[in-house]
Amino acid sequence: ATSGLGTEIVNVVNKLQDVFTAVGSSASQLDLPQICVLGSQSSGKSSVLENIVGRDFLPRGTGIVTRRPLVLQLINRKPTHSQQNGTVNGQDLKADGDSAANPDEWGEFLHLPGQKFYDFNKIRDEIVRDTEAKTGKNAGISPLPINLRIYSPNVLTLTLVDLPGLTKVPVGDQPRDIEKQIRDMLLKYISKPSCIILAVTAANTDLANSDGLKLAREVDPEGQRTIGVLTKVDLMDQGTDVVDILAGRVIPLRLGYVPVVNRGQRDIESNKPISAALEYERKFFETHPSYANKAQYCGTPFLARKLNAILMAHIRATLPDIKARISQQLQKYNAELQTLGGAMGDNSSANVVLSVITEFCSEFRTTIDGNTNDLSLNE
Ligand code: GDP
Ligand code: NA
Ligand code: MG
Repeated sequence: ATSGLGTEIVNVVNKLQDVFTAVGSSASQLDLPQICVLGSQSSGKSSVLENIVGRDFLPRGTGIVTRRPLVLQLINRKPTHSQQNGTVNGQDLKADGDSAANPDEWGEFLHLPGQKFYDFNKIRDEIVRDTEAKTGKNAGISPLPINLRIYSPNVLTLTLVDLPGLTKVPVGDQPRDIEKQIRDMLLKYISKPSCIILAVTAANTDLANSDGLKLAREVDPEGQRTIGVLTKVDLMDQGTDVVDILAGRVIPLRLGYVPVVNRGQRDIESNKPISAALEYERKFFETHPSYANKAQYCGTPFLARKLNAILMAHIRATLPDIKARISQQLQKYNAELQTLGGAMGDNSSANVVLSVITEFCSEFRTTIDGNTNDLSLNE
């Protein structure tokens, strides 16, 4: 399964990282922004994130399921196995749809170093187990994050954060100031200027009351890094739609809104695979009278493309600085050689690296320009 975040950007980032490795300098860091989901409880945050990653592994459901932040680091890693299925370290790699295991794709938790999870269902079990271990079974929450790394040839090296939802009324073991506690926890993540916020609102609730949008606006008043995501479009009352929201006539957002259809509770219970869910989502928008003429701007694949375009724009913005720092290092290196009497004389290999980057920057520019069109959205 390929990540919802396109292969093109994966290739671009890999090429860059290869060049940076060749330069072998600490000045050559390509840090991509973190992506955080923000919204009310059960608005569909975990579902959206899982669809973007393209793998089934997050606990989802009605009620407060996500009770600690999950910091999910995707790490692109070249494949080292030729066979697709089999056994790795005694773990069975069964081929059953989306959860089909692949020896080149696994998860590892910070709290369980060295233990590789090839079965993504077991990853979900461990998230649930460790959540309960730290917060109890009775709806308790904790700001203590769970750190999970996923290694795969199909993902973009990037960090995504699944967060507990905003709630107002304490239930179970929750403290009386639960609303404030969750808010403070979320603010810690979304305040970072490098955080891209997916502000999730269920389409069958009133956008004007969206807690996610309200909080996003506090940290990003200009809407420069907030994407609106409208979930549960399939659950809207007959004859209603999100067309006015998409057109920016309700609460305009600079980066716009993307309507999606995730799996419902029954789909979760019947283990409906992501591939089937994406197919259902595509048909839903293509055949719906309100969306048929704008289906290309709807759904999870469009959300992933939009994220790609934002990440590409970010890379483009950071490249000149990286290039300047590398060239500075080269100059320093050359000067040092001079003081050594120019004994080495030949620094061509370093210059080759720099010219590769220069060439890359121009090649790269075309790739990005082809992509940014995606940013002019919604009609
Ligand atoms: P979170 O609490 O915001 O992380 O929300 P979850 O992803 O756990 O989803 C909460 C519930 O809403 C689950 O039962 C999901 O199946 C359901 N759900 C989420 N998105 C959609 C959607 O687009 N359509 C439908 N029908 N159900 C959805
Ligand atoms: Na939930
Ligand atoms: Mg959740």
